[in-house]
Amino acid sequence: MGQHVRITLLLLAVLFGVAWLASAAVGQTARDWFEKDVLQRAALATSGAHDSLARGWRKGDRTDVEALLTELTRDDRLMAAAVYGPDLLMFASTAEFPVKLLRELLGKQAREAVEGPPERWRPWHAKVDLENTHLHASAFPILEGPTPLGFLILVHNLGYIERRTGQVRMLMFVAFALIALAGSTATVLAARLTWRGSVAAFRQFLRGEAPAAELKPLLRDVQELVERIRAEEETDFGGVWTPERLKQVLGSKLHGEKVIIVANREPYIHSRQPDGSVVVQHPASGLVTALEPVLEACSGVWVGHGSGSADRENADASSRLRVPPGEERYLLRRVWLSREEEQGYYYGLANEGLWPLCHVAHERPSFRSEDWKQYQAVNRKFAMTVVEEADSDDPVVLVQDYHFALAPRYLRSRIPKATLITFWHIPWPEAERFGICPWRRELLEGLLGSSIVGFHTRAHCNNFMAAVDRYLEARIDREEISIEFRGHVTHVRPYPISIEWPNKRAKASPPCADCRASLMAEHGLAADAWIGVGVDRLDYTKGIEERLLAVGKLLEKHPEVRGRFTFIQLAAPSRTAIPSYRNLGERVQAVADSVNAAYSRNGYRPIILFQAHHEPASVFRYYRGADLCYVSSLHDGMNLVAKEFVASRDDEQGVLLLSQFTGASREMTGALIVNPYDLDEASDALYKAIMMASSEQRARMQSMRQFLSEFNVYRWAGRMLVDASRLRQRERFEGRLSDEPS
Ligand code: G6P
Repeated sequence: MGQHVRITLLLLAVLFGVAWLASAAVGQTARDWFEKDVLQRAALATSGAHDSLARGWRKGDRTDVEALLTELTRDDRLMAAAVYGPDLLMFASTAEFPVKLLRELLGKQAREAVEGPPERWRPWHAKVDLENTHLHASAFPILEGPTPLGFLILVHNLGYIERRTGQVRMLMFVAFALIALAGSTATVLAARLTWRGSVAAFRQFLRGEAPAAELKPLLRDVQELVERIRAEEETDFGGVWTPERLKQVLGSKLHGEKVIIVANREPYIHSRQPDGSVVVQHPASGLVTALEPVLEACSGVWVGHGSGSADRENADASSRLRVPPGEERYLLRRVWLSREEEQGYYYGLANEGLWPLCHVAHERPSFRSEDWKQYQAVNRKFAMTVVEEADSDDPVVLVQDYHFALAPRYLRSRIPKATLITFWHIPWPEAERFGICPWRRELLEGLLGSSIVGFHTRAHCNNFMAAVDRYLEARIDREEISIEFRGHVTHVRPYPISIEWPNKRAKASPPCADCRASLMAEHGLAADAWIGVGVDRLDYTKGIEERLLAVGKLLEKHPEVRGRFTFIQLAAPSRTAIPSYRNLGERVQAVADSVNAAYSRNGYRPIILFQAHHEPASVFRYYRGADLCYVSSLHDGMNLVAKEFVASRDDEQGVLLLSQFTGASREMTGALIVNPYDLDEASDALYKAIMMASSEQRARMQSMRQFLSEFNVYRWAGRMLVDASRLRQRERFEGRLSDEPS
């Protein structure tokens, strides 16, 4: 049986059921009315005949009384009548009065009726079934002054009530069924006509003609669904993401030749050395690590702060230069900041305010109004630079990080049709904590100029939505995960960032065994030494002190590794104009010194600490030559050191120890996950890593490398671009709809 037939039959059954119940209710009401009518008639007949009956009865004239009773039963519905005295003996009756009935009637009820004094005699009624006939008897007292004479009993045949009630029920049932049938037929017809109309209108729409106004919402939903399915196919099932594919998405989906990246940190810094020479540095920044391959793939412009001491002389008159040096694959547009601007915007608001605000690392945020002014001014300055670099009225702009929370709104007001994707590379705090910031509303409003705001994890997305909910009057759509603020919709999405894969730095490095050998030679390590590495900016969020303390604990608990295990920490000085960063360098040095003092012997030093910048090629040599890498961040949006270490190990050896407080710990499941505050747990994990069999290392590495090969940085950017293109199409679509007269 077809689905439609089944549904139709089911509907009909329900309709008939309802009709039957309705007719039963009406039938019951009709029966009540008829019975009431019988009672009223009996009472009327009694009162009409009462005096004559009383007179005849008192005289003892039975014939006269019988004649009166016969007269009463001329009414068709009145079947028989009789009178009986207080002694319960019948005085007179009509000929048809059934004797059996009298026996029934003169039972308990009749006796009770004559028990009390006459003034308490009341009428009584009874229903009796006699030989399949439904009878109704009414008994009324007959009084002659105070003297009780007895009762008049009138017997009605209720058969006619049954018949009439049955007729009423049948009529009602037929009427209800007809109405229900007519109603559903009309509905089906209307639905068919509407469907035909909808299909015609939809075809009309697909041909590019204007749809009817009432179909617009439906068509919009259909459009969105199609786009979503397409986007899912693009991102999830379309195979591996490569630079070529990313470029193709940009061209085909966004009709763009280039993207504009706005990021404070520039990817190449020209620095003048004390000897007067100029070196080009690639800064230690996860953001730079991730974004450079994206821009190389897409080509475009990187708008960043020209912070190097030799930056000006290495840019043209319009502050531009092509990078990477020697390859020149994309454009770097440098923005010049005064000392005050850099102090207030970068060191002040961004790194002494927002950075500690967003990281749970026990550093107090500082908010100063002078910094806030500079932050606003610099955000405007960068936004204006983007406007200059945009070569269309709908450019694709990728705004990066907590340095530019206000830029999206400034940009939106200057280039309303731009696709603005803002990515927040660090955690987003809980709403209450975010409320510490005196400019919480302005920051949120600024970010809501974006088309999409992205975070590494869903938890950070939720925190952001909660902050908007708490501090702004905005409409939050939890289904769509979007926010409508002042008529503009911003989507909030998790996009876990990653690194390039295949990794060109790993490919360019010497084999892992050679890297190891060169590390051994350079640091004078024994042939059976175990090497651990840590690679970070010198930042209090990275848990470097805790990491070195865990190394000390390992040596304390396992004397057998003393003399063999060496931990090399590369710590790139960072934001050194900020006191807490300077102090950190001293504290880290003190921990390293104390562990070394306790366990050094015969030229062996357990901790080798470099507080210096290392270029990527050098960092990769450490990754590739080590037995383990320990990432112990106290709080970290993602942490790309963890992913880089895995990408570097094409020999599928080496163990990753990873803090549970990093975004990466959700993805790098082959790592040993540790709580960096728990020195016992961390030192046990270090020991486990040192002792881990090569086969287990391989299995763990393989699973993480497999993950990275699929979830690379092209996918990260690709997902954002595909989502953005979907939004653009939707906007076009909505624009087209709203152009139509409704
Ligand atoms: C973090 C931030 C980046 C920043 C990097 C280095 O990864 O999310 O935006 O570039 O640290 O910090 P710096 O202040 O030297 O640019």
